Amino acid sequence: MLGDFTLEEAIYNCRAMRRIKSDEVPEEMLIKLIDAANQAPSGSNTQAARWVVVRDAQTKRKLADLNRLHAEPYIKPNLENPANEKQKKMLDAVVWQMDHMHEIPALIVACFDYPEKMEGMGVYRSAGSVWPGIQNLLLTARSLGLGAAPTTLALRDQEAVREVLNLPETFAALCLIPVGYPMGKFGPVSRKPVSQTMRFDRWD
Ligand SMILES: Cc1cc2nc3c(=O)[nH]c(=O)nc-3n(C[C@H](O)[C@H](O)[C@H](O)COP(=O)(O)O)c2cc1C
Repeated sequence: MLGDFTLEEAIYNCRAMRRIKSDEVPEEMLIKLIDAANQAPSGSNTQAARWVVVRDAQTKRKLADLNRLHAEPYIKPNLENPANEKQKKMLDAVVWQMDHMHEIPALIVACFDYPEKMEGMGVYRSAGSVWPGIQNLLLTARSLGLGAAPTTLALRDQEAVREVLNLPETFAALCLIPVGYPMGKFGPVSRKPVSQTMRFDRWD
């Protein structure tokens, strides 16, 4: 058992935690997260997901700079004119994460190792063989009391990420997950009801 949680508790309480303390996370816990991610399924069981756990201060700073480069223009319109209080709260957390990303103890970059170099939309072709592992990682982090959030904005320029992390050119970086002890409280996720997202047999 990982932590004191049932699977149901972890699934229903796994919010994106963006405000993270700078306290170090024990290496065994980081390895546990990746081990859980490794148990996820992949197409034809290729097991080509790869994980770079970034703890080095300079490398974290470079990833934080890439995140700011792409996050700032992306959130600007909504930041200036938030749709509602909920969105404003989320954007405040995104800004906090942008300003403090380099101080978060571990930035985990989830990659896929393709047989050849991928560009453009091709980068995402096998994303489905990485995201189940990312979700395993997020649920495991939750059950261990670690805060985490899936992010993608820092990875928009694949060439830049490859250079920062010394990735082979066959690697696509698909998700960056800042991980550490949360500043705030965990809580339940808030989602649309099943009545809006599901039908039996046909969509009508
Ligand atoms: C594919 C994907 C990309 C995401 N990219 C970002 C991102 O770049 N930055 C960020 O702060 N959050 C990102 N998120 C987190 C979502 O904003 C978050 O999961 C969603 O708002 C639900 O949050 P909640 O679980 O706290 O309710 C991403 C999530 C997913 C699944």
